Amino acid sequence: MKIYMKKGTVTNFKSEAIVVPIFQKEKRLSGAMELLDKKCNGLIEEIIRGGDIEGKHLQVFPTHTRGCIPAKRIVLVGAGKRKEFTLDKLRGAVAAAAREVRSLNLKNFSTSLEFYPLEQTIDQIARAVVEGAVLGLYRFLPYKTVERKEIREIEEFVIVDKRDAVLRTAMPAVDEAGIIASAVYFARDMASQPGNEMTPTDMANEARKVARRNNVALKVYGEGWMKKMGMNAFLGVAKGSDEPAKFIVLEYRGGKMNAPFIALVGKGLTFDSGGISLKPAEKMDEMKSDMAGGAAVMGALMAAADLRLKVNVVGLVPATENLPGGRAYKPGDVLKTMSGQTIEIISTDAEGRMILVDALTYAGRYKPEAIIDLATLTGACVIALGENVIGMMGTDDALKEKIRKAGDETGERVWELPLWEEYNELIKSDVADYKNSGGRPGGAITAAALLGKFVGKYPWVHLDIAGPAWLSKERPYIPRGASGVGVRLLVQFLKNWQQKEKH
Ligand code: BES
Ligand code: MN
Ligand code: ZN
Repeated sequence: MKIYMKKGTVTNFKSEAIVVPIFQKEKRLSGAMELLDKKCNGLIEEIIRGGDIEGKHLQVFPTHTRGCIPAKRIVLVGAGKRKEFTLDKLRGAVAAAAREVRSLNLKNFSTSLEFYPLEQTIDQIARAVVEGAVLGLYRFLPYKTVERKEIREIEEFVIVDKRDAVLRTAMPAVDEAGIIASAVYFARDMASQPGNEMTPTDMANEARKVARRNNVALKVYGEGWMKKMGMNAFLGVAKGSDEPAKFIVLEYRGGKMNAPFIALVGKGLTFDSGGISLKPAEKMDEMKSDMAGGAAVMGALMAAADLRLKVNVVGLVPATENLPGGRAYKPGDVLKTMSGQTIEIISTDAEGRMILVDALTYAGRYKPEAIIDLATLTGACVIALGENVIGMMGTDDALKEKIRKAGDETGERVWELPLWEEYNELIKSDVADYKNSGGRPGGAITAAALLGKFVGKYPWVHLDIAGPAWLSKERPYIPRGASGVGVRLLVQFLKNWQQKEKH
């Protein structure tokens, strides 16, 4: 779908449909909406009076214009109560309207920024409109062959505005949002792919797409290199699978030559069966998305490069399968990590932390200014916070605050869980330095506590995305399945970081 801004009056603009938000409990329209309604002899207010749409968030009601304006239809969409309207509600409303447009088989639609009364800046509003439309229309259909011909996509979305100052600031924002949304699609596609089509080798090939950008360098390391590095925790997990493991390193240099790196580390389990500690069969298929953290890191680097952000970022993605093969690691095994510290295996299903500890140690080689890891790490985090929230733990309050802010700005919200010293007791092992599972109590936290032993002195935040990475229930602008969560959060974080670096 092509997206662009055009100077003009929305009432004079020709398209298949104009999207117009309706606020709850408001019988009278105002501003640009009132003007539009006047042109149409009160059509919209009549529809509201008739009770066809109350304005409840995400309600939709399409109507023909019968020539009152050049646009063929108006798609009314509920925006909820005006006082409760937020950027996130805006994203959702545009997404719902866009899906309605698609289900009507229309080729294009339009809207105007004049319709959305928010105190936020115009570039934020423009970005939310684009994100809502693109993210809400996402589908994963490459394996649908029978109904292939019936699949229709909207070709064009035009945002019309007559105000010059608005166009000046909103136009680049629209382009930016398009870039970020593409990176979210990239991550969603990767996490949606079945395990047989998204192996560690496939992931490395996806990284090559990122590496085509300017100022991006890629290294893909194999198991021989990992052995030399002493990454025996990572290798331990990989041993149960015949698919060769890959350690993917993407460096983006957009900042000053000698400015320190920000390290992003993403869990890349292309399939997690649990290994010898085999998972129950129910929903095991969803474990094809256990590389969502790695996908988010790669998506964030893609967007950072496309946006030419002035930061230096390294993305580290250890990628492997976790399978119960003949050489698989076993409960009771003790593995020596790259850091030299040892870990006793209690459950082979606690594999994410095993591959991450070596990646975190490796991150230290960059002497990074911050380390952020993203991982579908624990079911416990989903139990604690639900499906829509990212669990945050870490050692650095300033860094946590920055992540929190980026989360609020993007709607990819985080909630902190404590990482107090007491939790270390739960991961003490009788035979090794640590054990890889502290049992069920505080499961999300004990996982983070183990990771914390491998980050050295660097400011670090761990984001457990096990809940929001794969949705069983759709959200307004996130369809069911792979969400691409983390991409927008990380990009916003990097954008804000870059602003800080300017002074
Ligand atoms: N990939 C899973 C965590 C997960 C569960 C992600 C559900 C998304 C949805 C992880 O590798 C895992 O199996 N964790 C175990 C840890 C336990 C054995 C200590 C868990 O959460 O049960
Ligand atoms: Mn597991
Ligand atoms: Zn896992």
